[in-house]
Amino acid sequence: MTHATAPTTSPKRCTMILAAGQGTRMKSPLPKVLHTAAGAPLVTWAIEAALDAGTDQVVLVVGHLRQLVIDAVQARFRERVAFAVQTEQRGTADAVRAGMAAVHPDVTEVVITYGDVPCVPGEALKRLVAQRASSKALLALITTEVDDPTGYGRIVRDAKGRPAAIREHKDCSADELKIRTVNPGLYAVDRAFLSLALSSISSDNAQGEFYLTDLVALAARASLSGVAELPWEAVSLRGVNDRAELAAVESVLHQRVADRHRRAGCTIATGARIDHDVVIEAGASIGPDAVLRGKTTLAAGATVDVGCVLDDATVGIDAVVKPYSVISRSAVGAGAQVGPFAHVRPESVVEDGAHVGNFVELKKTRLGPGAKANHLAYIGDGVIGAKANIGAGTIFCNYDGFQKHTTTVGEGAFVGSNSSLVAPVSIGRDAYVGSGSVITRDVPDEALAIGRARQENKAGYGARIRERLLAARRAIAASIASATQPTEKIE
Ligand code: UD1
Ligand code: MG
Repeated sequence: MTHATAPTTSPKRCTMILAAGQGTRMKSPLPKVLHTAAGAPLVTWAIEAALDAGTDQVVLVVGHLRQLVIDAVQARFRERVAFAVQTEQRGTADAVRAGMAAVHPDVTEVVITYGDVPCVPGEALKRLVAQRASSKALLALITTEVDDPTGYGRIVRDAKGRPAAIREHKDCSADELKIRTVNPGLYAVDRAFLSLALSSISSDNAQGEFYLTDLVALAARASLSGVAELPWEAVSLRGVNDRAELAAVESVLHQRVADRHRRAGCTIATGARIDHDVVIEAGASIGPDAVLRGKTTLAAGATVDVGCVLDDATVGIDAVVKPYSVISRSAVGAGAQVGPFAHVRPESVVEDGAHVGNFVELKKTRLGPGAKANHLAYIGDGVIGAKANIGAGTIFCNYDGFQKHTTTVGEGAFVGSNSSLVAPVSIGRDAYVGSGSVITRDVPDEALAIGRARQENKAGYGARIRERLLAARRAIAASIASATQPTEKIE
């Protein structure tokens, strides 16, 4: 049987993202665009801005360590991103020239951005395209005002104040160096003009590179409507060259992610850091300095309080994670409570309404619905039934030095404080374990297990002990005194 294939729509706009550079100043074996900020590689943020703005095609120009970049991008975006290879990094115009090989023939407009400028909102690209359309210009570019323009290309203007050229820092005259309106590197260009212009750009400049910025002077001369300009605030146009700049863009991105969740109806305190892939339902609440990473998911009404660190954690409806708790690769059910100062390690499940209290560590453990482990316990490789109670100081002795073993605690069972359950072992349904027990054998349903030395009371023994201790103290004092007597003088 044959399937009819859906008609493919012809792409009209391509967004080309330059990411071939090495990023030497990162001092890292990882390509620059794969360094992460707020839980996603830099290039992910750039690609998402392109997709948000609306584009028919995304072309990523790769070069340095390209296979690593291609693999990472394909894992997330599949066929939504096409790749072009720039084998040698000879400048931004050369990169675009390489990119043109992957641009769909029907494309009439190319938007150019950088893979190391992650905070650009899709909105800015959308407005850039609109600006070019409304001014019927061959080229539109974003410009921005900065206090310190060092390193940036400067916007040189004509008599009417319109952009006439971009002068790279190293090619600037003393007067041009004073210009504070700079080029952040974002353009929307007519495709036919771009193809033609690229063939005329030379590397005759201070750096011996093919400058994409030469497009601006070419476009200004090519038509009366020449170059359109979209001023934008500098914070979201920051690029990353070193790890200090990486930290700076990360805080911008965290702020942006937090604001997105706030607008969607979540309460998020200042200082909380929520990464890119975290999902939060409306009505959840996050305290100051909480860090939410990976594929963490919070349901409506969930609270994650001050200073918690959640990594790939799922928190159910109305569950409360109290201050300074750490949860990794685990799930917390509806209405459950965790913390303060709890550590829920991978592959654990705290079921609905269960409680995990302070200084309790769970590892690969299922705590049944309504079960409680409220204070100071290590619970590793446990399967704990509904409404069971694990007393303060209980240890699940799950490791014999070679292997991990499971401890099972039945529904409604009560494990008294300071007990050690030596796995593999199972405590039956509604059974009791007396405080301070060391349990090495299974406990049947409904039974009481006591595994501790029997207590003995010796009448009147207190006075005898005190006398013995006092005598010992006197003997010590006497021996010190004799040792410190002055010795006889020898004439
Ligand atoms: C470029 C601009 C400058 C602007 C600045 C903003 C040019 C000539 N200059 O300068 O006007 O103010 O960005 O940050 O365009 N890349 C490649 N292949 C190459 C060279 C660069 O893919 O051969 C990529 C890099 O990976 C990077 C981007 O293009 O993502 C910018 O390259 P970079 O070398 O940082 O350009 P700048 O000198 O900063
Ligand atoms: Mg740069």
